[in-house]
Amino acid sequence: MKTLPMILALALSGGALAAGGGALPGLLAGYQAAGATAFDADRGAALWVAAQPSPDGGPARSCSSCHPADQRQAGRHARTGEPIEALSPAVVATRLSDPVEVEKWLGRNCKWTFGRECTPQEKGDLLSFINR
Ligand code: HEC
Repeated sequence: MKTLPMILALALSGGALAAGGGALPGLLAGYQAAGATAFDADRGAALWVAAQPSPDGGPARSCSSCHPADQRQAGRHARTGEPIEALSPAVVATRLSDPVEVEKWLGRNCKWTFGRECTPQEKGDLLSFINR
C-alpha cells in the first residue's frame, strides 16, 4: 500500500520508541496525511467491539475476540489461547511506543477481524480508543 511508507516516515520522525503511547502523535499525523479527518475514541470503541461475520462460518469476530472490550485488561488469543498483555499504554508502558510494531499488528489484526485492511480513519479511531 502506497501510504504505509509515508505513515511510517512521519511516525519515525516524531522521536518514537519513547514512552508508552510515544508513537501515537506521529502515527495519527501520518493517517491524517493519508486522508483521515479528526479522530474519535468513542467511534474507535464502537468499532473495537463490533461483531464481524467470520469468513469460515465460525463465531463472529471483533478486536475484542482477543483483546477484551476494556483495553486496560489483559486478553487471550481467540485461536491459540496465548495470554496477551493489555494494550493500554497507561497499563503496559511499551504499548504504542514503536510505530513499526503498531502498523504490523494493525495490518494483521484488521485483516483477520474485518477481512480487509483498516482505513487510516479507522486506525486513528482505534488507536485513540486504545490510548484513552
Ligand atoms: C486473533 C487475535 C487478535 C485479534 C482479533 C486482534 N488482535 Fe491485536 N494483537 C494480537 C496479538 C497476538 C498481538 C501481539 C502480541 C502482543 O503485542 O502482546 C496484538 C497486538 C496488537 C497491537 C500492538 C500494540 C503495541 O503497541 O504493542 C495493536 C495496536 C492491536 N493489536 C490492535 C488490534 C485491533 C485494532 C484489533 C481489531 C481490528 C485487534 N488488535 C484484533 C491479537 C489479536
